[in-house]
Formats: sequence, structure tokens, C-alpha cells
Amino acid sequence: MPIPRSEYLSTVWKDDIFAGRVAFVTGGAGTICSAQTRALVYLGANACILGRNVEKTEAAAKDIATARPGAKVLGIGGCDVRDPESLKTAAERCAKELGAIDFVIAGAAGNFVAPMSGLSANGFKTVMDIDVLGTFNTIKATMPYLIESAKRNKNPSDDGLTGGRIIYVSASFHYTGTPLQSHVSAAKAAIDSLMASVSLEYGPYGVTSNVITPGGIANTEGMARLSSSKMTQKQIAAGVPIGRYGTIRDIADATVYLFSDAGNYVNGEVLVVDGAAWRLHNGAGVGLDADMKYPDFILRGEFSKHVKTGRMEKAKL
Ligand code: COA
Repeated sequence: MPIPRSEYLSTVWKDDIFAGRVAFVTGGAGTICSAQTRALVYLGANACILGRNVEKTEAAAKDIATARPGAKVLGIGGCDVRDPESLKTAAERCAKELGAIDFVIAGAAGNFVAPMSGLSANGFKTVMDIDVLGTFNTIKATMPYLIESAKRNKNPSDDGLTGGRIIYVSASFHYTGTPLQSHVSAAKAAIDSLMASVSLEYGPYGVTSNVITPGGIANTEGMARLSSSKMTQKQIAAGVPIGRYGTIRDIADATVYLFSDAGNYVNGEVLVVDGAAWRLHNGAGVGLDADMKYPDFILRGEFSKHVKTGRMEKAKL
């Protein structure tokens, strides 16, 4: 049974906006990337998803293909983004069997919670290799196809069909610095930087390059690895100004926007889809007493009475 559209895609998009497009997705069997791919497939694309685990990747491809009758989704397992040759071979296979690569999602990532004191050089390197080198390898393996796709699909095009686009799945840890995430923060900062370099070096060839930064997304591998199962939904939601967890649909919709005709002029940008959660990382607690918790003090219209007001005294005549 196909997953209902409402779980991974909003109703605002026209059904065939990605007709005949081909998406190449690393980490495509993961919760977020498979939703992104499913949305593209629903809207007319075919896709090739890559992963290390053969069974998991092939099963995910079959499942994603149920999103649209006639959809073709290749699942290429045994592909490690740390190995440039395995990516090159996968890109060749995708172009041969599906005819092109119009969109790329660099989604493969590695993460675990660890303090720097508990992180070996190899632990740090492993995440840097998967995230940064893996992204670099993905760019190198797919760029010739993206340039061809951009040539075929002018920006803007007469028919509204698009091509030559790459997005990367990043994170916000490095915006403020995040304890227990030194390895991932360094890796995601580098991914944001690679995104910018691609936008400058390949923009002139018609390729657009953007980052999507998800916040905490419900029911994902990332949340299982990063958030304590002792935290209640309410406690987690209190850390998000919009008051809830993100959903895979939030990320899939952002992906559709960037790949669609509506995203033509967006290049070199980071699209943060996190309900403004990262903006709340304010360790100093400006204007708050120890027992004042966000968002309660906002909703009550209160702040600490124990701060100097700074208001000018009225002059005594
Ligand atoms: N804390 C500290 N170090 C850790 C760790 C943890 N929780 N998990 C792994 N490491 C270290 C290992 O000890 C090893 O270092 P060492 O040789 O000095 O002991 C190093 O990381 C490599 O581990 P290994 O298991 O050989 O790597 P791998 O390539 O098989 O797996 C991981 C990569 C570790 C990132 C693994 O968690 C993974 O496959 N993740 C993919 C899925 C994922 O993370 N998804 C989340 C996306 S948000």
C-alpha cells in the first residue's frame, strides 16, 4: 500500500512538475531522504537511491516506487560515499538506466553523541569522511550530468521543467556551537561551505546549489541518535518557537520548492527548516530568572524584575 501523500507532501504542488526528471540521492533509504525522494517521485520524477546496506536500499527503492504508478526507482546498495569510484559507477548506472541526472540530494551522513574527550581521531575522521568527503565525492561524480541537465533545461524554461540542481542536507549545530557534536558541527560547516563553492563555480553553467537544514524531525534515525528517550514531546516542543517537532513532509516540501520552477533564482542559500529552533540557543538567558522557561514567560508577557531598567529618570524641575 502506498503511503498517503499527506504524510510526505503538502497539497500545494501540481502532480507533474517533475515529469521526466531523474533524482540521484545518497542516503536515500534514510527517513528524511526517502521522504524527499518519494515527494519527487510522486510529482513525476524517477530516482536512484544509494546506500551502504544492499537489502535496506533495494527495499526502500521498491517502496518509494509505489508513490506513482509507472515510477522507476533504482536502489543501489553497497555504495559508500567515502569511495569516489563507487559513486562514479552509480552515477553512470543511473544515467544509463534512467537517462539522466537532473537533481542530486547529498544526504548520506553519520552521527552519534560524543564529547570531545570520548572521540578518537578515527571517530572524528569517520564523520568528516562520510559527510564532507562523501559530499565532495557526490559533487564530483554527478556534476557532469548536472551541467548537461542545466544545458537542456534553461533557467527559467518555457515549459516550467527544471534541471541541474543539487541540495545538501546539513544541520545548524555549528551556528552557535553545540556540545557533544564537535565532529558533526565541523562536518556540516564544511558542507555549507562546499555548497557555496559549487554555487559560485557551477552557477555559470546553470547549476544551482543549496543547503536544506532540518531541525529535529520526528521519527527519524537522527532523532533516535540525538535526543534522549527520557525527554517528553512537550519538553522537546518547548525548545522550538513554532511549538512542535518538524515532520518529514516539512523537509520534502522544502526540497520540492528548491528543485521546482519556483526555486529558479535561489542559489548559494541555506534554507533552515526548523521552526526557528536554532535561534533559541541562548545560553545567557537574557532577562530571565532561573525558573523562567521558554515559551511560558513569552506567553505570560513576563521577564525578570531583577534587571536594571536603564530608563532615564524624569528630570526634577
Ligand atoms: N562515540 C564515540 N566514538 C564512536 C561512536 C560513539 N558513539 N560510534 C563510533 N565511534 C568511533 C569508533 O569507535 C571508531 O573509532 P576508533 O577506531 O578510534 O575506535 C570510529 O568511530 C569509526 O567507527 P566504525 O563503527 O568503524 O565506523 P563505520 O564507518 O562503520 O560507521 C558511524 C560510521 C560510526 C557514523 C555509524 O554510526 C554509522 O554508520 N552511521 C550512519 C547512519 C547515521 O549516523 N545516521 C544518522 C544521520 S543524522
